[in-house]
Amino acid sequence: MKKVLLFGATGSIGKQTLDIISRFRDRFTLLGISGKSRLDNLLEISERFRPPLIALPDEESVSYLAERLSYKPEFFVGDEGLSRMASEPSADVAVVAISGIKGLIPAYYALKTGKRVALANKESIIGGGFLLLSCSQTSGGEIIPVDSEHSALFQLLQKYGESSLRKVYLTASGGPFIDWALEDLEKVTPELALKHPTWKMGEKITIDSATLMNKGFEVIEASVLFNLSPERIEVLIHPQSTIHALVELVDGTIFAHLSKPDMRLPIAYALFYPERPTLDVADLSFNPSLTLNLFPPDFQRFPCLALAYSALKLGHPYPLILEASDEVAVPAFLEGRIKFTDIPRVLEKTLNEFTIRYKPSTVDEILAFHEEVKNFTEEMIKSL
Ligand SMILES: NC(=O)c1ccc[n+]([C@@H]2O[C@H](COP(=O)([O-])OP(=O)(O)OC[C@H]3O[C@@H](n4cnc5c(N)ncnc54)[C@H](OP(=O)(O)O)[C@@H]3O)[C@@H](O)[C@H]2O)c1
Repeated sequence: MKKVLLFGATGSIGKQTLDIISRFRDRFTLLGISGKSRLDNLLEISERFRPPLIALPDEESVSYLAERLSYKPEFFVGDEGLSRMASEPSADVAVVAISGIKGLIPAYYALKTGKRVALANKESIIGGGFLLLSCSQTSGGEIIPVDSEHSALFQLLQKYGESSLRKVYLTASGGPFIDWALEDLEKVTPELALKHPTWKMGEKITIDSATLMNKGFEVIEASVLFNLSPERIEVLIHPQSTIHALVELVDGTIFAHLSKPDMRLPIAYALFYPERPTLDVADLSFNPSLTLNLFPPDFQRFPCLALAYSALKLGHPYPLILEASDEVAVPAFLEGRIKFTDIPRVLEKTLNEFTIRYKPSTVDEILAFHEEVKNFTEEMIKSL
């Protein structure tokens, strides 16, 4: 029986992880959970799975839960609580499904204490991937990516490793505006942007998918996780979201990973690896209407993708700057303070104008640096 810590239990990935755990109760038990604002949801999850450990952002949230729970778990509070729960020695796996750079805290401490980290959180890889990799090398911890494209690449690269690899392709659904003209993109509203054609996800990542920033982040993730130069990573628009990644070998042969767009597949893969569980949640049927289109992205209409390649080529801490700036630009768009097409403008301005006083190299420095970039972006948006 594997003991699982689930960071971000109330989110989209969190809920899908709970679905997998509930299907395999004979294999996994929930040792700990964390959440931030959806406390009633956390309460329901706690009553259903009765995890003995719960991490919360503050003492107020602890009181809220403690007064209502029918059992007495151990509570962990704040950032320190996240690091302490992640370091819990009896846990085998930490699923890191928190959104934002705070995901770096549980990812780092779970790896440092030698655990498997099923890593959905992108921000920690983009901003602190170098730290996570070096930490796992010394501690014996391992990262199994949960992001669907990286899970697909991980699976393909198990079979077709570095010696025969020419390059990799990540696919992108293209989001709801892939066919829109540049001038029409100026008129995109938050309501329209939140309607993703193929995936059901949290708000931030849904907007990032519509700008293709998400795919840009995934290029950075792939570079970090699989040690690939930017030139060896290409993006292909694939509206059906059925092919998740492809590898091209030195003789020109290409292998693809196909599955229905359902995050429970990569989550289950990361929990069970190297075993493959029997799952019937998302079978792909080759009915006559199954068509697969693949075409290159338009970097002009979707400049966020180009910004990601630029940041990756510039190296640390530019990907961190890009990601932090995006964490401010996306809510500003959702709140109607900037236009959809202002998102890449804001990001580019931050990349160009933020003064790098030091290269953050520890978890605390990365979090502090991230906050500085967010403040800078916030001020810049006010002055637009
Ligand atoms: N959704 C997908 O299909 C998908 C696919 C690939 C990768 N990812 C990545 O997975 C991560 C989670 O995505 P999601 O879509 O599941 O996001 P989400 O639905 O917004 O959920 C985020 C989770 O993180 C918690 N959280 C947010 N900020 C926190 C903080 N500062 N401290 C502690 N907990 C915090 C939230 O708690 P409350 O809800 O209680 O506030 C919630 O449990 C992101 O990094 C995303 O890029 C997601």
